[in-house]
Amino acid sequence: MTFSRIESGIPGLDKLLGGGFIEDSVILVTGETGTGKTIFCSQFLWHGLKKGETCIFITLEEDPEEIKEDIKVFNWNFDKYEKKGLFRIIYHDPAQVNNLGSLIIDEIKNLKAKRLVIDSTSLIGLSIQDISQIRKLLFNTINVIKKNKCTALITAEIPEGAKGLSKFGVEEFIVDGVLVLNYLEYAAGGLDRSLIIRKLRRTDHGKDIYPIDITSKGIVVKPVE
Ligand SMILES: Nc1ncnc2c1ncn2[C@@H]1O[C@H](COP(=O)(O)OP(=O)(O)OP(=O)(O)O)[C@@H](O)[C@H]1O
Ligand SMILES: [Mg+2]
Repeated sequence: MTFSRIESGIPGLDKLLGGGFIEDSVILVTGETGTGKTIFCSQFLWHGLKKGETCIFITLEEDPEEIKEDIKVFNWNFDKYEKKGLFRIIYHDPAQVNNLGSLIIDEIKNLKAKRLVIDSTSLIGLSIQDISQIRKLLFNTINVIKKNKCTALITAEIPEGAKGLSKFGVEEFIVDGVLVLNYLEYAAGGLDRSLIIRKLRRTDHGKDIYPIDITSKGIVVKPVE
């Protein structure tokens, strides 16, 4: 069976994903601090905007203006699309996550959004401590996104030096795919950024540790030498 795919916007990645993300799937982009999660997600949306797809960025932490300012170094001018009504960036209070699902339904319907980002789901822990409640909320949120025909990247933080894939240890189980951003140390010395496709349902995906780079044009998967 073949599935419709949506381009990630990250040069070199789609061929490792079996042609891109499956449409209407939800992928977790996880990693320690500073590994490039927000840049990765912004690049996914920017690619969509350039293709004429409407996009939404929900931030639970950083100020929307600051996010837009940070990514201007890559020449991604989200303001232009926001003014045209093709893009929305929304700050949502992490202390009020119980209405996250209804916010998402409204926003996707209003904009007829094709791509969505939630950055970062780890903030949900500020208002809900019970892990089973967090899992339930995330599960419902993911289902809402898929039912409304949107493809989403959601981020999670891996605490520094921790072994798991996420903050609460449940996020990775309820999504369709997991991409881990990290640092790669070479035996001969030196350090690269890296990407691992840890899970991708219904896909025979690449299984290596892939060196990546953050360039003036955003994230790229480095070609194998
Ligand atoms: N123009 C650039 N060129 C190269 N690297 C950059 C550039 N801009 C940012 N970076 C790198 O990207 C990192 C920040 O990326 P990003 O904000 O996406 O990380 P994150 O995983 O979302 O971090 P956080 O834990 O703060 O959410 C910086 O620490 C820096 O190493
Ligand atoms: Mg970030």
